[in-house]
Formats: sequence, C-alpha cells, structure tokens
Amino acid sequence: MSNLLKTNPEAEISLRRLRPRLERFWQTTEASQEEIRDFDERLTEIWPRLFRLLIELYGDRYDFFYHLEEILLSAARAWCDRPQDLKELDRHRVYEDNWFRSEKLVGGALYVDLFSENLGRLRDCIPYFKDLGLTYLHLMPLFAVRPGDNDGGYAISNYRSVDPRLGTIEDLRLLGKDLREAGISLVLDFVFNHTSDDHEWAKQAQANDPEYRDFYYIFPDRTVPDQYERTLREIFPTVRRGNFTWHDGMEQWVWTTFNSYQWDLKYRNPAVFRAMLEEMLFLANVGVDILRLDAVAFIWKQMGTSCENLEQAHSVIQAYNALAKLAAPGLLFKSEAIVHPDDVVRYISPEECQISYNPTLMALLWESLATRETKLIRQSTSHRHQLPEETIWVNYLRCHDDIGWTFDDQDAAHVGINGYDHRQFLNNFYTGQYPGSFAHGVPFQHNHETGDMRISGTMASLAGLEQAIQQNDDQLKDLAIRRIQLLHGITLSIGGIPLLYLGEEWGMLNDYDFVKDPAKAGDTRWIHRPKMRWEFLEDLGDQLGSDERMIRRRLFNSVKRMIALRKSIPAISGLDLELVPLVNSHVFCFVRSQGGDRLIVAGNFSEEPQEISGNLLRTAGLGRFFEDVISETTFQTSSDLKLDPYQVVWLKRV
Ligand code: GLC
Ligand code: GLC
Repeated sequence: MSNLLKTNPEAEISLRRLRPRLERFWQTTEASQEEIRDFDERLTEIWPRLFRLLIELYGDRYDFFYHLEEILLSAARAWCDRPQDLKELDRHRVYEDNWFRSEKLVGGALYVDLFSENLGRLRDCIPYFKDLGLTYLHLMPLFAVRPGDNDGGYAISNYRSVDPRLGTIEDLRLLGKDLREAGISLVLDFVFNHTSDDHEWAKQAQANDPEYRDFYYIFPDRTVPDQYERTLREIFPTVRRGNFTWHDGMEQWVWTTFNSYQWDLKYRNPAVFRAMLEEMLFLANVGVDILRLDAVAFIWKQMGTSCENLEQAHSVIQAYNALAKLAAPGLLFKSEAIVHPDDVVRYISPEECQISYNPTLMALLWESLATRETKLIRQSTSHRHQLPEETIWVNYLRCHDDIGWTFDDQDAAHVGINGYDHRQFLNNFYTGQYPGSFAHGVPFQHNHETGDMRISGTMASLAGLEQAIQQNDDQLKDLAIRRIQLLHGITLSIGGIPLLYLGEEWGMLNDYDFVKDPAKAGDTRWIHRPKMRWEFLEDLGDQLGSDERMIRRRLFNSVKRMIALRKSIPAISGLDLELVPLVNSHVFCFVRSQGGDRLIVAGNFSEEPQEISGNLLRTAGLGRFFEDVISETTFQTSSDLKLDPYQVVWLKRV
C-alpha cells in the first residue's frame, strides 16, 4: 500500500471495496497477469488523486459510489482493449517522459478533406511531411458530423466513426500506424464541451428521455437562461445573441456557447463525465498520441459567474488526465484555452494538460509586426514564458481559428499602452483600415454593441503578401516574405513545439470563395482554410517560372531549412529563455540554452535596418565570434550587429 493511500482513509476504504469488483472484471477478460499488475500499480499511485477529484466534483450525489465504480471499470476495460503496439509505446514513453519537449518536435495541422481529400490519400502524403521535417501532425476533426453546417468538424455526431467522406476508423488506425513508423505523432481533437444536436445523446434528449435530457442544459423558458446571461460573454454574437438556442421540436431552450447546433454538455452530471471518458479512451486506443482538448474554458457552468475557467473545469480535466494515465499512459493532453494569459497557464501542468497553445505569444508577434515595436512582447515574455517542468508550449502563428488580442492589460499598461485602444488599433490594422497597413484580414464575430472583433486571414495575407501581389510591387513582396520568415524564425526557436498551419509553407493567400458555399458564408474563418494546391509542390523543382512561383519556392525552402536547423540545435529544446534587455526597441532578442549549448536569437520587427550593440551580444552570448546559422555569415562583437529589415538571426558561438 502506498503512503499516499495510507494518509487518505476514505480513498483507501473505497479502493478496498472496489478491488473485488475489479477482480471479477479481470476474470471475464484475457488480460495477462503482467497487464493486470501494471494497471494495478498505476491505480495504487493515481487513486488518491483521482478519488479526491471525483469526490470534489460528484461527492454530493446520492449515487456517487455507483459512478465511481463504473468510471474505474471503464478505465480497466479500455486498458484491456488497448492494442499491444500502443502498450509497447506506453512503456517507452515512461522512460522518455520529456520526448515532447525536444527540439526534434515540429508540428503541422491540416484538414484532411482540404489537404488530401481523404485518409487513404493522406497516408501517401507522409513523404511530404517527412520532407518538410514534421514530427507531429494535428488532423482537424474528422469524425461523423451533422449534415450541413458543422463548424469545420467541431459538431460531432459520433466520436467513434469517421466522416464517411474521409474514410473509416480502420483507415485512421492504419494512418496512425504509418505515422508512428515515420516518427510522426498523431494529434486529434477531443471535442468534449459539446456534441452536435444530432448526436445519439441529443436525439434521446429530444425524445424526452430524462436520462439524456440531463446530459445537456435544457430549460423550459427564459427564467434560468436569463439569470445565467447576466454574467456570460457572447462567443459567437453574429450567430445568435446570447448563449441559448430555442429548440422547436422540444420547445425548450438549450445551452449553446458556440453555434446553435453545438449543445454544451453538462459535466455536473457524472454520467456525462463517464460517457465522454469512454469516448476519449476509445480515441486513445485508435492510436492518438496527443489529444487536443477543445474549448476547455467552457466545460463547467456556475450561476453568477462567467462560466469560463472555473475551478471545476480544471478538476474535470485533471480527473481525465489521471484516468488516461491509468488506461492509456502514453497519452498527452494539449489545452486549447484562448483566454487571458493568467487563465491559459492554469490548464498547464503534468497533472492537467502537459501541452498548451500559446495564444499570447501568437497575438503579440502580430502585435509587434503592426507596431514595429517589441516592448509588449518583451514585457509579456519576461514573466509568462516559463512553465512547470514536464510541460511545454505549442507556438503557432495561424491556426484554423481567428486571432483574438488576448494579451494582459496590465502588461500593456506597464509599457504605456492602453489595452482597449490598442485592440481597436490592432483590429483596424489587421482589417487593413489603418492608413499604411499591409494586412488584408477580415473581421470575425464583430459585436456591434461592444465593438469587439477578432481577425480572420491567412498568415501571408496578414503579413502583407496579398497586398504586395495586388500592387505588383517587388519591394513590398520582399518585405512580406521577410515578415513571414521573421515570424517563423521566432516560433521555431523560442521554446516549445512550433506548429505550422499547413498552407503557411507556401504563403497561401485568403480564399474569398468561401462565401459561395452557404454552409460557410456566415463564418469568415473559412477565408483562411484554403484547399492544398499540390501543383505548388510540382513547381518547386522548376527553376524558372512566374514571380509567384518564386515567392512560394523562397517561402517553402526557407521554412524547411529553418526546421532542419532547429533540429540540430539542442539549446532549442525545453523552455529556458533569457531576454536580452536594453536592445533596440524594434528588436526582440533572447538567449536559449540547454546544457552547454547556447543560441542567441534576434529579430528585427521593422522595415528599417537596425543595430544591436556587439558588446551586448558578447555578454549575452558569452563569446566574441558568432555565426548566424540562417544566413551562414559570421560576425565578431568588436563591431555592432546590423540587422536587415525584418531579419531574424540565430547566432551560435564559433
Ligand atoms: C474550438 C475550435 C473552434 C470551434 C470551437 C467550438 O475553439 O478551435 O474552431 O469553433 O471550439 O468547437
Ligand atoms: C473563442 C474561444 C475559443 C474558440 C474561439 C473560436 O475565442 O475562447 O475557444 O476557439 O472563440 O473562435
């Protein structure tokens, strides 16, 4: 018996009572003695924590013990069903528990239908990923969805079957195997805040089954919804006002934070917790390495609060984490919390989500491009970059979603910026309204009442390439390419898993045709979800060709090269980072180190050349001679370092 258990008598007694039940379960399976022992060892270790979390969430329920037992049996069943090759991987991962913090990890994200039509063809694209250097692949939701609008796959009607247009679960399994063999981890979404309105549970609720009605938040009239609304934000104000949707069939109101057909699940109900646990472990056993926990901020509601980032939301995720450690020990969680930076970090720990999107860095990189100043990104990075041991950021520039300016107002005030005004400026800038702006973004979810909006647009269109091509101006084209290279140069080196949103590698521009599809027209995020154009790859070897071909070639080759370079620099692993203070205000400069390896990164966020003092670099880099491994030029600190417009350098001591 572990010491932890001894100090928690209720946990100990409960486990003692559950063990015979578990014993009887094992007898009905073909699990080997070794497999049972492995599970049991993990159970002993995890139980006190799991028990505490479940008591916290559900301890006041009359049927708590029933749910506790069922939850444990669900985990045991999933472990029995876990394929041998995944169990083998679990064993490895225990020894290399920091694999996801390595400089060797580089991610890509894509929509299967837009990239390769289906899962079968995606298997043939593995050489493309390898060539680019990807070792982590996030496939946007590919499960069965409701007909018509489905929020790009985020309205799931069955978590255990693949959208038939894309393939089958078997295809997914085979893809997972092929990816693993190619050294690429598979990342899929766990869309657990809501189901589609045509999920079996929702259908049962519509048929008035009381058990399933209790899976969702359903109200006969506006009384309770109105009470909740007083303290709620609106996430999709252009879809519908408020957070509730009238359902004609039921003649009732349903909680729908996002689109009206996405029904929020009621995690207050332990049956929901267990039902989603089973879906989660099913996915894990298909061969997923990392689950992207979608919309984590919203999973717990409490009257009188914002119903975002509540304590219990963390407890639910931590309980899932403990159960995953029990039934699928190699599985990791990535948190998608696009919220205030103080709230983002609260999801990140080895016991909750080991990996998290870094929305603050993302927003501030775009902020720096717009202002040509780095004071805000420096201020924010100075105290927000470090994370607990055994966790890591995912650094991205664009994804399938919009950009929201989620920086902290106090960080802004600290460097003399008014947060509210600055967000207005950034929205004006990135929608191209601000005089002289290079960006061609469009508004997303403009709330005319509050003035709030977020920004849609591809990386290249936001960075000025679309405008430059339109104006057919070579100098502007060059600047836009340099901006893109600068952004990549930072996300690939700052610490964390860089995540390319595929299409970025070619500088794909906004796709304005989305408005022709009625299921997409109302959601401007489709502007930055273009179809992959394989002819780009064919053009790559062709040395001649149009101007646009040359631009694509330049972008593709440079990101591919930076990825390869990243993998050869041990200092890039982990998160150690020291900002270099007192540099020129247009320059973002930091030192990465790991063991004896050091790398200085400096990026010029303006279209004017800038200088950094050689003496400063000498003291930061602990050397006098450096090579910029990107441009392969050397320099000595007896003179100042000159940075070209938007140049990024990775300096290694020579
Ligand atoms: C997440 C997804 C977003 C989706 C929302 C609702 O934030 O990234 O695309 O609209 O969840 O599922
Ligand atoms: C909000 C949510 C985020 C979601 C996004 C979709 O920002 O916080 O979870 O991805 O909306 O637009």
